[in-house]
Amino acid sequence: MIKVLFVCLGNICRSPLAEAIFRKMVEEKGLTNKISCDSCGTADWHIGQTSDSRTLANAAQNGMKIRHLGRQLAEEDFSSFDFILAMDESNYDDILDLKDQIGADHDRIFKMREFESGSPAPDVPDPYFGGKDGFQRVFDILWRCNQHFLDYLVKEHQLQHV
Ligand code: 4NP
Repeated sequence: MIKVLFVCLGNICRSPLAEAIFRKMVEEKGLTNKISCDSCGTADWHIGQTSDSRTLANAAQNGMKIRHLGRQLAEEDFSSFDFILAMDESNYDDILDLKDQIGADHDRIFKMREFESGSPAPDVPDPYFGGKDGFQRVFDILWRCNQHFLDYLVKEHQLQHV
């Protein structure tokens, strides 16, 4: 099983949406027995909480349902997940800081948009303090990145559809 973790700051806007989109794509390709995913935040502010109401509304408008409850990035995540994908530069730096602090090994920590536009990748913008439009913009970015990322996984791991 290839395990993918999407990481943002609060785990109520970007990363739960990235997780929901990616899961839908994995299901549509018949790869649920080969790829699994989860999401978390670097901060502890929204542990146990449902996603932001604007995230839930945006997901519903785009035909998907988010059931995730907020959780914070933890030490075990570095050994549990094969890929750790950060939404922005600050999340990326925080993930690397925690990895170094605990002396974990991990060589597959990327910024999400590297799969869309290569490196250096722009940030997935944080929609939390903006208006509703920001959420659809984030959705579109995450959709494109996830398509590229899943194509990459299918090629790299020579995954066959069931
Ligand atoms: P996220 O967005 O990192 O995409 O989940 C945010 C959610 C909450 C806050 C900031 C960003 N906050 O300040 O509580």
